[in-house]
Amino acid sequence: MQRKLAAGNWKMNGDVQALSMLDTLAQAHNKAQTDILICPPAHLLSQAVARAAPGPVNIGGQNCHHAASGAHTGDISAGMLRETGATAVILGHSERREAYHESDADVRAKATAAQNAGLLPLVCLGESLAERDAGEALAVIRGQLQGSVPENSTGDTLVIAYEPIWAIGTGKIPSMAQIAEVHACLRNDLREMLGDTGASVRLLYGGSVKASNAAEIFALPHVDGALVGGASLTAEDFSPIITALAHS
Ligand code: 13P
Repeated sequence: MQRKLAAGNWKMNGDVQALSMLDTLAQAHNKAQTDILICPPAHLLSQAVARAAPGPVNIGGQNCHHAASGAHTGDISAGMLRETGATAVILGHSERREAYHESDADVRAKATAAQNAGLLPLVCLGESLAERDAGEALAVIRGQLQGSVPENSTGDTLVIAYEPIWAIGTGKIPSMAQIAEVHACLRNDLREMLGDTGASVRLLYGGSVKASNAAEIFALPHVDGALVGGASLTAEDFSPIITALAHS
């Protein structure tokens, strides 16, 4: 059985000073029963790793290229991320799917590269509000799952994050029934795609997770943690979410 995972996505936020939150988290969650991951912008990765290790907080990237090296100005490969000491990478976030037109096939190629480099990919998927309103949410999410997950993934080499686009940074979250429905569907599909190991792929919920709603979300079946944006930027906001997960 995998440990639950509290993951923070800093997006394009944070500076060297903000890394002091890693010290606070390490002190508060020294004996953490959950996995903790912070994904800062790329320029902070090496310093974040140096500051966090050895300790309960792991460090990850927010994107990688599918190729190992080459003429890809501005990109970073999975192996390069690994060389910073990062152990995970967020892939296929809706902000990248939209801004850089990343397709499911692109996300799968990146996730394969991450696995081959020894990084744990956190593959993101989720529907838009228009798709939800049209009754297409499950079909969209299932299609993204089929298209984005590398073959031969296991509970040790894959994490999925369900992030409804309309819940990201908006303060709105789906109903508990809606989250439960999506997570149950993802679990079923992962079992069909990967066999028994599909049962141990961690399924994170993301989108406006806060200390005030975390416990309710973590009580749902097949919710194995959270991918948190805004509330992961400070220890004050993120620490209670880790605590709620540990108690769930
Ligand atoms: P917020 O927690 O700020 O809504 O962001 C969620 C997210 O996009 C995490 O990847």
